Amino acid sequence: MRLKDKVAIITGAGSGLGRAIALRFADEGARLVIAEINEAKGEETLSLVQQKGVEAFSVTTDVSSSAAVTRLFQSIDDRQWPVDILVNNAGNAGHLTPVHEMTDEQWHAVVDVHLSGTFYCTREAVKRMLSVGRGGAVINMSSVAALRGLPGGSSYTAAKGAISSFTKGVAQEYASLGIRVNAIAPGWVETPILENLPDEMRPMLVASTPLGRIGAPEEIASVALFLATDESSYVIGQTISPNGGMYT
Ligand SMILES: NC(=O)c1ccc[n+]([C@@H]2O[C@H](COP(=O)([O-])OP(=O)(O)OC[C@H]3O[C@@H](n4cnc5c(N)ncnc54)[C@H](O)[C@@H]3O)[C@@H](O)[C@H]2O)c1
Repeated sequence: MRLKDKVAIITGAGSGLGRAIALRFADEGARLVIAEINEAKGEETLSLVQQKGVEAFSVTTDVSSSAAVTRLFQSIDDRQWPVDILVNNAGNAGHLTPVHEMTDEQWHAVVDVHLSGTFYCTREAVKRMLSVGRGGAVINMSSVAALRGLPGGSSYTAAKGAISSFTKGVAQEYASLGIRVNAIAPGWVETPILENLPDEMRPMLVASTPLGRIGAPEEIASVALFLATDESSYVIGQTISPNGGMYT
């Protein structure tokens, strides 16, 4: 049990990668905080992790709201749980729109959730990690889009690129205090987020991946587990990209 009694907060844990990470961390004995905007999906994940016998609760949270994130962390404080691990995973694909047609609303709908949400949650988690003084791990969900660009998804590409840069800066601020901050930049992974893409794009996704298939959420969860444990004790400020070879 590599995460026995560690407290892990996972945003966007009601679906896809967040749920897979929650289940993997539950297998390793973590206590879990499910922070999800969609209450029903959050409750579903809660019930799945509780079936594994771990302590957990879910808080309906919109990570793009600073006030909502404050309430999320207040509910953790109310239980007197420390914060050991934060996974900033919540996100959406937004609308694929060329930049010259992108509205302010479309831009902010992506950047506010991915980038501001990552900032709000990291700020609150690090405050608590510092006050307990036993270090911690922050894992930010970037994307291969940050590395090679996603045409039509300039807001997504920009937000994910900024998340990788944020990761580097924050990692250097706290490395000496035992808080390790790293990012994951997945390639295409089979989750509901891909439903936003036109069906005719699917063969292109596979063709652009040398491994010849779309990834499984569990293949990203295992990278998150590595970054959450001391097995990655010398890994600081990195963006690790499990992507089937589409970007090397
Ligand atoms: N699936 C992929 O191919 C892929 C590739 C690279 C990166 N990612 C990233 O991985 C993360 C998870 O995506 P996924 O593929 O599991 O998608 P998903 O749609 O299955 O899950 C995203 C979850 O985040 C939640 N969410 C959305 N906005 C939120 C908000 N404001 N506050 C709290 N929760 C919110 C959604 O309700 C959903 O449950 C995202 O950051 C995404 O950009 C996914």
